Amino acid sequence: MKLDYDVKYGLEGVAVAISSISCVDGVKGELVYRGFKIEDLVENSNFEETAYLIWFGNLPNENELDFITSMLSKKRELPENIIYMMENFPKNAHPMEVLRSIVSILGMYSNNDNSTLEDAINLTAKIPTIIAYWYRIKNNLDLIHPRDDLKHSENFLYMLFGEIPEKSELFDKSLILHMEQGMNASTFAATVTASTLSDVYSIITTAIGTLKGPLHGGANERVLNMLDEIKTKEKVENYLNSLISRNKKIMGFGHRIYKTYDPRALILKKWLSNMNEKVKYFDIAVKVEEEVLKRFESKKIYPNVDFYSGILYNYFKIPKEFFTTIFAMARIVGWTAHAMEYCKNNRIFRPRTIYNGPKNLDYKKVKEVERNG
Ligand code: SDX
Repeated sequence: MKLDYDVKYGLEGVAVAISSISCVDGVKGELVYRGFKIEDLVENSNFEETAYLIWFGNLPNENELDFITSMLSKKRELPENIIYMMENFPKNAHPMEVLRSIVSILGMYSNNDNSTLEDAINLTAKIPTIIAYWYRIKNNLDLIHPRDDLKHSENFLYMLFGEIPEKSELFDKSLILHMEQGMNASTFAATVTASTLSDVYSIITTAIGTLKGPLHGGANERVLNMLDEIKTKEKVENYLNSLISRNKKIMGFGHRIYKTYDPRALILKKWLSNMNEKVKYFDIAVKVEEEVLKRFESKKIYPNVDFYSGILYNYFKIPKEFFTTIFAMARIVGWTAHAMEYCKNNRIFRPRTIYNGPKNLDYKKVKEVERNG
């Protein structure tokens, strides 16, 4: 059938906006935030500084960094009755379901006069608290309330475990890696919601729901499940052959844009190999990568950020069902930055479909309709 429009499934290769927030070069395997290479930012920056860069477009000076650090540290606590609600959630609720629900409820407590940026900072500050509180409630532990004298990522680890683990700077840097990635599925969903001039809480609720899917954010949790099932390096080949023979996607591999190494995966792999101690799962993961590349290099399928991120989070004793919420606590910066940028020259998203259903049918009363099938 001749189509008068060609359908781009998944909008593959379609640019829906012009943006100066990040550049994802899938051929060279490069990621740049506002002109700065991701490698330079993880080497020299921290969460607060890179969040400022992504939101405002330039690296902050000392006063500006103090401003954003103080704004984020002051807005961490949750309203009492939200904590009460969380304490009455079913304990088996997935952390992403809790995060999606509480972000939505927080919208009822926001001052409608807030600017998008104020609400973005408010949510960025509160999302780590929602995650940490759920971890404590789910495990029948007393809450550890936020401290405003700690940096964003240190405070999160403190609220989880009551202390700041060694090498916590690697956790902070992993948040930088996850902050922004152009028009990925959850950022696109956020931008579509923003294009209707909806509020930040609705925008982020949309994004979290989109990120929850296993083809997007939920992959790093499934990578650890896969590594648990494989158990030893010797079993990697048979396990992969079985997956491939059943046409199953291998979690943590492949990417719509990166047709070479995902630079974030390379950085995570380097950190894990330089740990000066045995890191659980890392040896098997390297073997899986080796075997997948042998089988898929022609299809340009390489490890993506999710393949190694879970191994690092497991090193910090973060339970795997919380991995995708960690992705969300970083990506909220990219989601809100794109929402604000797109709305500067807003145009509501309204693509089309090609109709291939029946036409010119005569109406039948229900009694005249033959039983189907
Ligand atoms: C993230 O967009 C982003 O930037 C996302 C992200 C971000 O920071 O926001 O980078 C985060 O989502 C990382 C991806 C995490 N998801 C996974 O690891 C799940 C496994 N990966 C796949 O589902 C897949 O690679 C996607 C979804 C990530 C990308 O899918 P595409 O671009 O639609 O690729 P495709 O399905 O068209 O694959 C092309 C070919 C297919 O084979 P053929 O039909 O051509 O024979 O490659 C195969 C696919 O079957 N393929 C895989 C594979 N990924 C692609 N085969 C086995 N295992 C895989 N993981």
